[in-house]
This record gives sequence, C-alpha cells and structure tokens, in this order.
Amino acid sequence: MKLSLKLNGRPTEVECGAEEILAEVLRNRLNLTGTKVSCEVQVCGACTVLVDGLPVSACTTLAYEARDRSVLTIEGLAQADGSLHPIQQAFIDEFAFQCGFCTPGMIMATKALLDENPNPTDDEIIHHMDGNICRCTGYVPILKAIKRASRSLKEKRK
Ligand code: FES
Ligand code: FES
Repeated sequence: MKLSLKLNGRPTEVECGAEEILAEVLRNRLNLTGTKVSCEVQVCGACTVLVDGLPVSACTTLAYEARDRSVLTIEGLAQADGSLHPIQQAFIDEFAFQCGFCTPGMIMATKALLDENPNPTDDEIIHHMDGNICRCTGYVPILKAIKRASRSLKEKRK
C-alpha cells in the first residue's frame, strides 16, 4: 500500500506492506536509522518517535496508523542551519549517554515531555521517562540533561 504522511516536516509517500511496523518502515524503507529497535514489545523506549506530537513506540505501531499524520524522528530535530536541537545539545553537555543506543528514544521522549510541560519537576521527569530504559548511564546524567534542556529552551523562548 502507499502510505502518505508528514515526516519530519515534509510530505512523504512510501510503499509498504499493511503488516509492517512503523519502525521497520522508517529504518528499512526510508533509511531513517536513528530510531532504534531493541525489545520489540514496547518495554524499552528505544524506538520512541512522536506521532502528532505524542510519543509512541514505533516497534508496536503499524505503519498505516501513521497515515496522514505527522511523524517526528530524531533526524527531524536538528535546526534548519544544521545545529543541534537544545535537547540534543543538553544530552551531549551532560554526558548523558555511553553506548547511545537508548539516546534517540530518550531525546524524543524528552521532546514530548518539554513540549507539554516546559518546567517539569524531577519527579515529573522520572515519571514521564519510566518507559525509556538505559543500560549504561545510571540515569542521573539523563535527568541532568533533561533539566538543562528545559533551561535552554526557556532561554530560547525569551
Ligand atoms: S524497541 Fe520499541 S519499546 Fe523497545
Ligand atoms: S547509553 Fe547505552 S543504553 Fe543508554
């Protein structure tokens, strides 16, 4: 079937099977390999993308569910001039990754959080991010990165 969607701000059409999951279509048909796949059962958050602004697990979302909707992946976060999004920069500045496998999903989940709640408390961050698993960092740098991103975005809005 032909799937039409708005992908990272651009109208996009792609041929895919009715049974294909969104993560497969992004990675294998559209070459957007920033979205990672690990557990494949909606437990780890590695495959998090935003559909109409809300975080979803691309490993358990059928591609056709994204039909005519807006999908944002990690590749769509950088600014038009190529500079990193403040959330991406905050993860670098706080050394909030090691192997990096969880990082795209962490960043996309953070984007959803800060879009909805620009000034989250620690508890709110921890609650929001509890579907995103990291095996490397111990989470403290990720918490710091999210708080740094919140401050950076606040500065940008001034
Ligand atoms: S790969 Fe989708 S939640 Fe783990
Ligand atoms: S940085 Fe390795 S899983 Fe998070």
